[in-house]
Amino acid sequence: MLVILSKYLYNEFMEKFCIVTYGCQMNVHESEKLSGMLLDFGLQETLKPTNADVIVFNTCCIRENAENKACGNIGALKGYKKKNPNVIIAVGGCMPQQKGVAEKLLDKFPFIDIIFGTQNLYLFKQFLQERLNGKKHVVELEYNSPLPPENFEFNRDGKDDNAYVNITYGCNNFCTYCIVPFVRGRERSRLEKDILEECKQIISEGKYKSITLLGQNVNSYGNDLKDGSNFSKLLKEIALLPGDFKIKFMTSHPKDLSDELIETIATTEKISHDIHLPCQSGSTKVLEAMNRRYTREHYLGIIKKIKTKIPDANISTDIIVGFPGETEEDFQDTITLIKEVKFSQIFAFIYSKRKGTVAEKMEGQVPILIKRRRVNEVLNLQKQIIKEQKGK
Ligand code: SAH
Ligand code: SF4
Ligand code: F3S
Repeated sequence: MLVILSKYLYNEFMEKFCIVTYGCQMNVHESEKLSGMLLDFGLQETLKPTNADVIVFNTCCIRENAENKACGNIGALKGYKKKNPNVIIAVGGCMPQQKGVAEKLLDKFPFIDIIFGTQNLYLFKQFLQERLNGKKHVVELEYNSPLPPENFEFNRDGKDDNAYVNITYGCNNFCTYCIVPFVRGRERSRLEKDILEECKQIISEGKYKSITLLGQNVNSYGNDLKDGSNFSKLLKEIALLPGDFKIKFMTSHPKDLSDELIETIATTEKISHDIHLPCQSGSTKVLEAMNRRYTREHYLGIIKKIKTKIPDANISTDIIVGFPGETEEDFQDTITLIKEVKFSQIFAFIYSKRKGTVAEKMEGQVPILIKRRRVNEVLNLQKQIIKEQKGK
């Protein structure tokens, strides 16, 4: 009885929530789920943390600077929380999912009320309720959960005309630099019928021009299901749904991009010709050390097939410079690959050491000044390529 009464009293004071999102599209979409849950809780959204009664940080830890940014912004709320002790501060997403990080966060920022992870985000209303019922810190992390439930209360608030749809969660690839498999668990595919149902629902709303299918490696969709589903088949099924919309997807892993898929993209009108295909490096030696499981030649072979079958394809990529052991010669292999492919867009990153990954312990860590010079070289080259293409 007491519990119900306190919930009622607390809710009367709570009006607004604010979600601060870092990281990739996966997190952007998960913030739409959090937003849906908080609306359902009876709160309204505000974009300013210091106007909110519930502030949720949906964090990223892909590189050190992503973590620093989140920690800086959490720390900046110390005074606000002191003045408004009833304000609830929650930290979720990839960062606390790392080993020992939840404890460190609480140590550094004892005013955090709730810590949750990537795999139990759908329980956020329950965590909030527990805190409102008087639990001092709610720390709930999950490491091997199955798929989250279907029928989510999204708040796809129509900020743009694209709707995100998860097709897989987690990642099995263990690229040696990457933290994602550790913080998002093994790859799990949603059932084709559930994805189709969600797409139908989105199309029936009539507000979206595109649907973007999300997975760390969309090309391996269905491998875990063992029911014959695969990504190419899924795309064809979605394209059969009646309506005027484009299908986009990210991210494609070059090792799993099949000829069948290139054919499907080339011949299915509704599928977008924007293909994000991270190469990471142009050096086969570095790719091997990264555990990417393809060579420079294999990558260039796929690009050739794409350009032949889909002449108007926009191919974008991710590049990491300064991976341990990357020599000047290896780096020049990346430069020549960029010159050869002529990407429509490049996301270039300085390698950032991540705790618990294989590359963390590798010899030959590259000094920061060299990494900065290399990343600038990539960005300048890309600018030049775009300029030349526009001039044509
Ligand atoms: N699953 C996707 C993207 C994952 S993260 C894929 O495999 O392509 C997005 C990008 O961040 C990666 O493509 C990579 O270029 C970069 N990245 C990942 N870990 C990194 C690290 N430790 N340091 C620098 N960049 C990193
Ligand atoms: Fe990270 Fe590699 Fe998985 Fe992408 S495919 S999320 S880079 S481990
Ligand atoms: Fe995305 Fe960052 Fe997590 S890139 S998967 S939010 S570590």
